Amino acid sequence: MKLESYGRFDRQAIEALYTHTFSNSEGQSEGARIGALVHEILERVPSESLLGFVATEHEEILGCILFTRLSFDSPANAFMLSPVAVSPDYQGTGVGQELINQGIRHLEELGVELVLTYGDPNYYSKVGFQQISQQVVRAPFELSHPEGWLAQPLNGGRLDLPLGNVRCVEPFNDARYW
Ligand SMILES: CC(C)(COP(=O)(O)OP(=O)(O)OC[C@H]1O[C@@H](n2cnc3c(N)ncnc32)[C@H](O)[C@@H]1OP(=O)(O)O)[C@@H](O)C(=O)NCCC(=O)NCCS
Repeated sequence: MKLESYGRFDRQAIEALYTHTFSNSEGQSEGARIGALVHEILERVPSESLLGFVATEHEEILGCILFTRLSFDSPANAFMLSPVAVSPDYQGTGVGQELINQGIRHLEELGVELVLTYGDPNYYSKVGFQQISQQVVRAPFELSHPEGWLAQPLNGGRLDLPLGNVRCVEPFNDARYW
């Protein structure tokens, strides 16, 4: 499996991967919603606030992962992992964990101190995430699943110092995602 920055890939192919993957797992309307979210992220988020990686094998796209900047009043260097998708044909073969682990290693090389995500703790704990209290990082919206608010420190970052309210990039400013 090869991991490359999303920039050299056709944006429509990336959006199609997300739409197809989420339609397959969560139904067509959720697939369309996540495809539209990814479209907004790729179109609107400034490049310094977006990191994305595509996994391929023999030029076929297996999966994709996006990280977008999180901002605090303090100068913390933090990104949010979301969304990640592995083509249904390749799910359950380790591609997701490889994408997440390799993506996070890239962030680490860039000096990022904290990665957050909002998802299934059972899955993300396999790749180094742990639950984080709202007292340390207050999510941008009320969380429907507070147990899914997860973080991983990098480069000496800490999970025990209160960072206050976090702001996400514009496409995630929608209560439905939280
Ligand atoms: C979730 C997803 C990215 C995982 O990638 P993957 O390549 O299928 O997963 P991997 O093969 O790396 O990991 C498999 C392990 O994770 C577990 N797992 C996979 N999907 C899971 C999920 N949604 N919840 C909990 N555990 C999950 C498997 O049981 C397996 O556990 P094991 O190693 O103990 O056997 C992929 O299944 C996917 O794209 N799903 C649809 C979209 C989605 O839900 N994205 C995540 C939210 S943004």
